[in-house]
Amino acid sequence: MLLRDTHSPTGIHPVSQSKAAWRAMRAGRPLQVLGRPRMAFTTSKAATFPSTQSLEDPLTTTQDHSSAKHSTEVEREVEQETYDWAKQWYPLAFVEDLDPKVPHPVELLGERLVLWRDADKQWRCFQDKCPHRLAPLSEGRIEPSDGTLMCSYHGWRFDGEGKCTDIPQSLDAKANAAACSNPRSCAISHPTQVLQGKVWVFGEGGSRAFIDSAAVKPALLEDLEDTYPPREKNGGEDCFFAGGHYARDLPYAWSTLMENLADPSHVNFSHHNVVGDRTVDQTMKIVSKEPSKTVPSIKDTFKMAVTSFDDKARDYQTFDMEFVAPCLVKWGIPPWGVGIKHGYMPMYMIPTGPGRSKILWCMLLPTSSMPAPAKLMQRLTPKWLQHISITPQVLDGDTGLLHGQEVAVSKEAEKDLNRLYYMPAQADRFVAAYRKWLAGRGGGGPLPMPETSELQAQPQLLDRYSQHTQNCPSCSRAVQVFTALRIVTAALAAVCAMGIASTLAASHPVLGLPAQFAAGGIVLAGAWLWLSKTIQKYYYVPHTHAHA
Ligand code: FES
Ligand SMILES: [Fe+2]
Repeated sequence: MLLRDTHSPTGIHPVSQSKAAWRAMRAGRPLQVLGRPRMAFTTSKAATFPSTQSLEDPLTTTQDHSSAKHSTEVEREVEQETYDWAKQWYPLAFVEDLDPKVPHPVELLGERLVLWRDADKQWRCFQDKCPHRLAPLSEGRIEPSDGTLMCSYHGWRFDGEGKCTDIPQSLDAKANAAACSNPRSCAISHPTQVLQGKVWVFGEGGSRAFIDSAAVKPALLEDLEDTYPPREKNGGEDCFFAGGHYARDLPYAWSTLMENLADPSHVNFSHHNVVGDRTVDQTMKIVSKEPSKTVPSIKDTFKMAVTSFDDKARDYQTFDMEFVAPCLVKWGIPPWGVGIKHGYMPMYMIPTGPGRSKILWCMLLPTSSMPAPAKLMQRLTPKWLQHISITPQVLDGDTGLLHGQEVAVSKEAEKDLNRLYYMPAQADRFVAAYRKWLAGRGGGGPLPMPETSELQAQPQLLDRYSQHTQNCPSCSRAVQVFTALRIVTAALAAVCAMGIASTLAASHPVLGLPAQFAAGGIVLAGAWLWLSKTIQKYYYVPHTHAHA
């Protein structure tokens, strides 16, 4: 396809010169489409993008002249009912990451919880404190005899509903039954459900929560059926997970994580040479897809179209970004090399505690979206290998920046971040919209921001082991196996060294034996080194942007 730039000396931009076409559009020069449109960006509609000025809408509040308007809108939003973060569903874990034989400690909205699977194979969630003397139930065990959750301190047992079924210290059956029928012996339960491969937990516990939760819709991926692996709705295709699932606890607040995921313009810099390229054109247009550009918080969801240069496609691409309160940011995947036509990148953000959050990440591609060899390679790549490749590098790349940002913000008197930040480019439009929603309807966020006045050291911030490995069955198993293999390789290398020494010392060495020992020793040393480096990736990998 050709585009005609009415101010260009030649007037012609083939698609391969799309950077020039983009510059023409930035300058507001009309482009005439010649021939068949090939992609959304280069259609005649795209070629008549409105100017930057006319794209301003109520979502952008960073211009100085809009301060008064911004105040009015925030005040109007505050007048709305504040978003109730507790009466919402949150996906706390991928089901396949949970061992059903043991209880799992989790955290939501500052409350410690325990996830476990009962005798009916239902995932349950209780407050992580035993009604007896408040010991953590996550330290307990699931009794194989009856599938109850037993507190490890004094052996009280609980069924899936939270009802106490046995108090071993009771003097007789009658006393046991009387104590167990007292509501004070019950564990406090949160509603749960398994949807789209994740265990969802309602933010509020207790009997009232089971009534409230029935009326609340979880932030599901609306494009996909509740099947596993997922299938697109409306006669679409089966999808497969590219890069595996990945869950990680993060040492910064939910609101900071959300701001980061609402910001496509950081990718090429923060993740240069990982998933981005800081050397390409960084121009970015973001246009609200809200109908009639109303204030988005009315629906607690908003969507925008992002147009930027995609280094994988080597072309300009448009994709959608969407926020669905309380926990989902979804990036569409535009067409790019290796035959990918479209896909989904949902990122679930969990407000675990003050200054802490958790991300559940995955990338879903329709099965026809990739050539068979690439798909086969994806499928054959074990999760423990996927989990030490790109995704942790991406999160590591952001963590130091976001932590430093939180420390800087905590020292500022101005707490309205849309006033504190200076965001003159459209690239920050989604961030501005989100911050406005959070300050108004969002009531400031799910949890108070902690006073974060001191910078933490990088090994603490990027502690992959406590943030991911210990909770990932695939990675923790890999660490065990690799550690055992490393001991074996070290032992065999020592045998080789002794063999070399003894044969060299002998007056009549066996012909060729020292060379064989030496070759074996080199291979084993290489294996030991590879294992050591690989094991380290499950614990901590230093990240320096200046060297990326
Ligand atoms: S604290 Fe749980 S049984 Fe005593
Ligand atoms: Fe893992």
